[in-house]
Amino acid sequence: MQQLIDKLINKEARLGILGLGYVGLPLAVSYAKAGFQVIGFDLDESKVAGVNSGDSYIIDVPNEQLAEVVQSGKLTATTDFSQLASVDSVNICVPTPLGKTRDPDISFIQAAVGSIAASMHSGLLVILESTTYPGTTEEVILPLLSENGFQVGKDFFLAFSPERVDPGNPTYHTTNIPKVVGGVTPNCTEVARNLYGQVMDTVVPVSSVRVAETVKLLENTFRSVNIGLVNEIALMCSAMDIDVWEVIDGAATKPFGFMPFYPGPGLGGHCIPIDPFYLSWKAKQAGSEARFIDLAGQINGFMPRHVLKLVTRGLNDRRKSVNGSKVLVVGVAYKPGIDDMRESPALDILEMLANLGAETAWYDPHVESLPAGIDCVQLQEWSKVAVGAFDAAVIVTPHPAVDHSLLLESGPVIIDTRNALKGYQGPDLIKL
Ligand SMILES: NC(=O)c1ccc[n+]([C@@H]2O[C@H](COP(=O)([O-])OP(=O)(O)OC[C@H]3O[C@@H](n4cnc5c(N)ncnc54)[C@H](O)[C@@H]3O)[C@@H](O)[C@H]2O)c1
Repeated sequence: MQQLIDKLINKEARLGILGLGYVGLPLAVSYAKAGFQVIGFDLDESKVAGVNSGDSYIIDVPNEQLAEVVQSGKLTATTDFSQLASVDSVNICVPTPLGKTRDPDISFIQAAVGSIAASMHSGLLVILESTTYPGTTEEVILPLLSENGFQVGKDFFLAFSPERVDPGNPTYHTTNIPKVVGGVTPNCTEVARNLYGQVMDTVVPVSSVRVAETVKLLENTFRSVNIGLVNEIALMCSAMDIDVWEVIDGAATKPFGFMPFYPGPGLGGHCIPIDPFYLSWKAKQAGSEARFIDLAGQINGFMPRHVLKLVTRGLNDRRKSVNGSKVLVVGVAYKPGIDDMRESPALDILEMLANLGAETAWYDPHVESLPAGIDCVQLQEWSKVAVGAFDAAVIVTPHPAVDHSLLLESGPVIIDTRNALKGYQGPDLIKL
């Protein structure tokens, strides 16, 4: 154990990252910038090629930063998983989606651990960073890595550390977000703490791997439930003709005991719509109900249909039907300032509008194309003339780079689901 800790402290350890996506690539670059020799592994050849040519595909990793660590030889990427035999530590950063029945799909974790097990050697530190249900590390990973008689805490070290990165956040990034870590044994926590201590500003050890796994689920459940609450308040306010945005701004002036959350067209991204169900799935197995999670899931899942109702109302006010109307969706990424469309409510809204016979189009300066299978025209130009051709415009994701006020007086009825047109009022503007 001490030998590995010394290697970590002296930056002589070779670090592996499995999965070079939104989480894995920034982590790999942070390790390399700190002076470690890093090997990134991914099944996706285009990502591996991108890394090796210093061409970043992740918004939080500027090309110059990536190119610098690649050119200095500190970071390489490969699809050759046999090279796992040469690393001292490996962070697993693979996807953890939900299956068709909304149960956890940990098949990516199992595949990644299978690759590690095939190159298992003593003295290895393995840390899972993918969000998952409590018990995954001990119940799924530990048995696979122990298969050939390797003893955890002695021959190898196993820990969980939740990744909390917030793509596009200008203040908080991989190294200045406190890093919670819990090992299967105290030795495991200690070794993992020594790895993160070389790159992260703050490391927060917790007493067990299950606590570390549950920390992440609490954080995201907290957001999902509070967004669900404020979405329900928005539905109530809509029914009573009260401006929910002004209500929230008013409440937020209280200097204690209130934290503002904002309503919206529905949840998006790889975390908030998914992670709470990892917790409820496991809790149900233990005989515990997850009523807040289920209720928030229902309310948040209903919001795209509420948006559709507002579009119908706006068109109806102009004696038009959804069927045959031209409807523009503005902002298709799931949050402002980024290009990620995973679970974006914009895609549901476009689909529902098309099903009702609308001629749909989308505009988003961060997104090049929609996922395959969505038949929808892309608006190339953001001008009064271009948006004036539409009967309705739905602001789903308000990118800072877009001047939404251009929609005003351009012609379409505007459904503003994000208060992007704060301060404006008028018969052509319907707010969530
Ligand atoms: N994106 C976020 O903002 C965020 C924030 C915190 C936590 N997380 C969690 O981190 C994990 C990773 O998320 P992400 O957003 O980076 O996903 P991602 O889809 O951007 O990246 C995952 C990468 O893993 C690769 N991969 C899949 N199977 C593999 C395997 N067997 N071996 C090697 N590589 C493999 C994929 O090709 C992909 O490049 C998830 O559990 C997610 O919930 C994500």
